Amino acid sequence: MRIPGLRSIANRKAVTLFRLTAGFVFSQVLTTCVRLGVFEQLEKGPGSAEQLARASGISAEKMQLLLEQAERLDLVTQIEPGSWMLDDAGAVVAGDQGIKQMVLHHEMLYRDLTSPEDLLKHPEKETQMKSFWAYARGRQTLELNENTAQRYSSLMHSSQSMLADCILDAHDFGRYGSILDVGGGDGSFLTACAGRHPDLRLHLFDLPVVTGLARENLKANGLGNRANVHGGDFVNSPIPDMADCVSLVRILCDHDDDRARQILKNLHASLRPGTKLMIAEAMSGPSEGARLAAVYFSFYFLAMGSGRCRSDAEIKAMLIECGFNKPRTIKTNNPLLATLVFAER
Ligand SMILES: C[S@@+](CC[C@H](N)C(=O)[O-])C[C@H]1O[C@@H](n2cnc3c(N)ncnc32)[C@H](O)[C@@H]1O
Repeated sequence: MRIPGLRSIANRKAVTLFRLTAGFVFSQVLTTCVRLGVFEQLEKGPGSAEQLARASGISAEKMQLLLEQAERLDLVTQIEPGSWMLDDAGAVVAGDQGIKQMVLHHEMLYRDLTSPEDLLKHPEKETQMKSFWAYARGRQTLELNENTAQRYSSLMHSSQSMLADCILDAHDFGRYGSILDVGGGDGSFLTACAGRHPDLRLHLFDLPVVTGLARENLKANGLGNRANVHGGDFVNSPIPDMADCVSLVRILCDHDDDRARQILKNLHASLRPGTKLMIAEAMSGPSEGARLAAVYFSFYFLAMGSGRCRSDAEIKAMLIECGFNKPRTIKTNNPLLATLVFAER
């Protein structure tokens, strides 16, 4: 700080450190705006603190306090005294159910992370995230109840649209005749694929408790006749081998290395030679987005009790070990969401 010329660097580092120490408060400003419906209100048009306060049941004075902090975080902006509208980040959150649902879901994650050192010392400790992601660690996957499956599938559904765009922009699935999405949830990724590639035949494989949701959702999107839904356990049931391309979207990362290998070996045993396999998930790497995603997901998976944010190199090594050939990485425009690794059976 005292050396002229280096002062601006020192200041920048101080700001970075402050962002780190106070990050929880910043994310709580965002959470409050989501919970009080501030973005939804402002999406309809500019509004005053009084109007927003009335809609959310707090005083105008406290709403003003919230809006001022949200403005400092570029979520909202004051176009003229007393009239607020969405700023860029607020507009993105307002328009994306997935971000809003993830912000709300963080209540559970942050509760589990109240004493993160406990999770490091006692990884076997029960957490809310372990109950939420009940299939993780392979616990009685075939006996999950429908409510549990519905809860996590709905979170996956709402956070899928941005991810699907990111994957479909990075690779042309129009070159395949058919795609099988393994662990495909309620079919949201397949629905997005179908929208871009009208001739692609669709297959989905997931736990039997999820297949009903998938059939309903695919039918609601007009794909009832275009999609086949298969139920089973991707660790030890035979996987249907009728597709040219098989996708694992946000699947491997959920599982520890041994289980991830079992999934890949089962796919290898089931699929025809020549089938393309795509792994799509957030991967660790040198870019700022990949570094941030790795920190976030490493602690997320710690609370969940299973899974790992791997680099593309680690995933490629695992694919080779499980018998797949020619692994290659395809970058997407948003490494915070996903990087793709392709390989051939
Ligand atoms: C994190 S979600 C990802 C869903 C979807 N691919 C997406 O990205 O939105 C994991 C999916 O894997 C499914 N799954 C978990 N364990 C499974 C198993 N043993 N066999 C088949 N599917 C499983 C879950 O039901 C869930 O739909």
